[in-house]
Amino acid sequence: MRDTISAPISGALPDAVPGTVVTGGASHSLRHESAAMHVAGAAAYIDDMPEPKGLLHVVPGLSTRAHARIVSMDLDAVRAAPGVVRVLTAADIPGHNQVSPVGRNDEPLLATDLVSYYGQPIFAVVAETRLQARHAARLARIEYEDLPAILDIAQARAAGGAMVWRPLTMQRGDAPSGLAASPRRVAGRITMGGQEHFYLEGQAAMAQPGEEGEMRVWSSTQHPTETQHMVAHVLDRPSNLVTTEIRRMGGGFGGKETQANTPACLAALAAELTGRAAKIRLDRDDDMMMTGKRHDFVVDYDVGFDDDGRIRAVDMVLAARCGWSADLSGPVTDRALFHADNAYYYPDVRLRSEPLKTNTQSNTAYRGFGGPQGIVAAERVIEEIAFATGLDPLDVRLRNVYGTGTRDLTPYHMTVEDSISADIMAKLADDCAYRARRAALRAANEGSPHIRRGIALTPVKFGISFTATHYNQAGALVHVYTDGSVQVNHGGTEMGQGLHTKMVQIAMREFGLPADRVRITATTTGKVPNTSATAASSGADLNGMAVLDAVRRIKDRLVEFAAGHWGVDAAQVRFLPDGVHVGATVVPFPDLTRAAYFARVSMSSSGFYKTPKISWNAETGRGRPFFYFAYGAACAEVAIDLLTGETRIEQVDILHDAGQSLNPAIDIGQIEGGFVQGAGWLTTEELVWDASGRLRTHAPSTYKVPACSDRPRRFTVKLLDHAPNREDTIFRSKAVGEPPFVHGVAVLHAISDALASIDGYRTCPRLDAPATPETILRTTERMRGLAAPCPVG
Ligand code: MTE
Ligand code: MOS
Repeated sequence: MRDTISAPISGALPDAVPGTVVTGGASHSLRHESAAMHVAGAAAYIDDMPEPKGLLHVVPGLSTRAHARIVSMDLDAVRAAPGVVRVLTAADIPGHNQVSPVGRNDEPLLATDLVSYYGQPIFAVVAETRLQARHAARLARIEYEDLPAILDIAQARAAGGAMVWRPLTMQRGDAPSGLAASPRRVAGRITMGGQEHFYLEGQAAMAQPGEEGEMRVWSSTQHPTETQHMVAHVLDRPSNLVTTEIRRMGGGFGGKETQANTPACLAALAAELTGRAAKIRLDRDDDMMMTGKRHDFVVDYDVGFDDDGRIRAVDMVLAARCGWSADLSGPVTDRALFHADNAYYYPDVRLRSEPLKTNTQSNTAYRGFGGPQGIVAAERVIEEIAFATGLDPLDVRLRNVYGTGTRDLTPYHMTVEDSISADIMAKLADDCAYRARRAALRAANEGSPHIRRGIALTPVKFGISFTATHYNQAGALVHVYTDGSVQVNHGGTEMGQGLHTKMVQIAMREFGLPADRVRITATTTGKVPNTSATAASSGADLNGMAVLDAVRRIKDRLVEFAAGHWGVDAAQVRFLPDGVHVGATVVPFPDLTRAAYFARVSMSSSGFYKTPKISWNAETGRGRPFFYFAYGAACAEVAIDLLTGETRIEQVDILHDAGQSLNPAIDIGQIEGGFVQGAGWLTTEELVWDASGRLRTHAPSTYKVPACSDRPRRFTVKLLDHAPNREDTIFRSKAVGEPPFVHGVAVLHAISDALASIDGYRTCPRLDAPATPETILRTTERMRGLAAPCPVG
């Protein structure tokens, strides 16, 4: 892969965060392409774009019932309100009233006679100002006839367990007999909550009508091609009339993989019907009420093991609250199964999913895509074994990790070829003195009535690739202009994760150019068509290879030209930072491109890539869904207050495998951010619906995302050194977007370890997530043998 004519990536940056150690290989930490604009407030998001003349504003009107027939809808007062230009209902849709991203036809853009969750869009107001539209939306008079609403997993099961997708079973060996034959056995249940994406920039889109049915849509979307398709279907026209564009999102985290489609379609519909540009920017409360979130899960597990803590058999049922429509719940619940082994070998195993239908927001992609939920279940199983055997959970982990060449077959019959989990955990445990600190904490807890400390070290093994094989393709379009400046376009979207920076680095390295000569532009379906969502952490893997392909095609032509023009061998043309070496002469890159232009050499190329080796058959539950695995481990130490239930994260050490990192500073940023987001999911972030199905936590006032002050007091992130990807990925790097989210699991287990001190580490606390102060207090009381909370008054 690495060729001799490449120059190193330049532009070193100091450590990402003080106290963070940046290590790892030959790559360099070029600053994020928008870093300066981000901090100066100069980076433009959809709502910052100069507004076209006559721009209108769209605000949706939402259902106030979880499940009901619409008996009548009186929108007269809405239409008559000041500033209102048009009110959109399902009847106004020229094409299909449908935005199901998976072809299920179960997701109308606007409700017709039935509403299926509290917050579902029924109509939309188009007005001269956003405030006028918001006022008018409140004036609707809608008469409902309530139907029985199913709000959570328990209710869904009690009502017969209707599902939004086929359940999946993965099995190898014979779990029931394996369990029966095991010397020891534990069964239990863990519940874990969902999670609001809380992207800083909410859902937003702007649409501008053009000639003869053309529609341009700027959308804060992770999936411009799907947004293009949805707008085309809703407006009933071919894709070639619809162009979607996105320069950057203010965060997506999976929440704009499909959920951006509805706002984009509403803006396009308004533009279509009024002939004017139209913009939608959801109010934060509406955004939280309308859009799907991470799936909450209830997992029932039954594990057989021996006295040494070795797992013999595992049987698990993983049930998810999916919401009212399929959305991505099928692949999300599949991925929960794909990760219900985390890093561990289960000799006999059966894993089953239950993607349950409920009258709530349609849950969707969220960093890890079901994987973290599966991993949380796997780690609970480990914890149960540790308490049952009296072993240190780390030892249980080390005894059960996948081997290489032996004990290496996953529940989906893919062989783990490079299990490095044991090495990573052992190295991290050494580096952060896990064992000594654990012993010291336990001793200190004995003399501390209220403040208890806990520590845990957990691994992650995360499969990289879309499990839907066809998504694993990407395109790019690279232009070299006569002045030697370069423009890079690709199918991936920038949401803060640094994808564009990495793509720029690839062109810089290949052409030997500095950062200011390579310009990345907005992602648009007009330049690179038929793209996949930027998701599954594979943005850099897929688009990076496509960019490299495009660049190499142009380079090949330039090399051929230069060799002929200057009369040297093609092998003697090399692109280096000081210019293009043509034999003994150094030609400045712009001189070469000008000369190539006059010689009529094409300096533009598309590029394409598809991931090799992968396959997956859901019918048989077998295949190689992942090109490779990304690994890592985290050690967290916490202090909890048994009187208030509060938690403080004292120290976190992470060792993570980013392969040969494309950009260590950006990757460390991803690991830090992923960890904090994962810890937030498992500790402070709690979604609460009331009995009517109304989400009561729909603003930061009631929904607690981690703040700066919640970060670990001591926080060290290191990249695994000298760890090039054994597969042929872009410069041997590994995907890094989602796997570090899982490091937050160490915090849940550290809290559990602290709670276990209450009864002298005899029983597994069976701590559910999120471990909010309330959950911690309830668990404390259970551990102390109190049946009910203290009486009040
Ligand atoms: N980092 C930032 N700053 N903002 C985001 O929205 N999304 C995450 C992750 N890191 C996200 C992020 C998710 S869910 C994914 S799938 C990956 O980035 C997507 O980008 P990549 O494939 O380029 O890693
Ligand atoms: Mo990420 S959940 O795959 O957008």
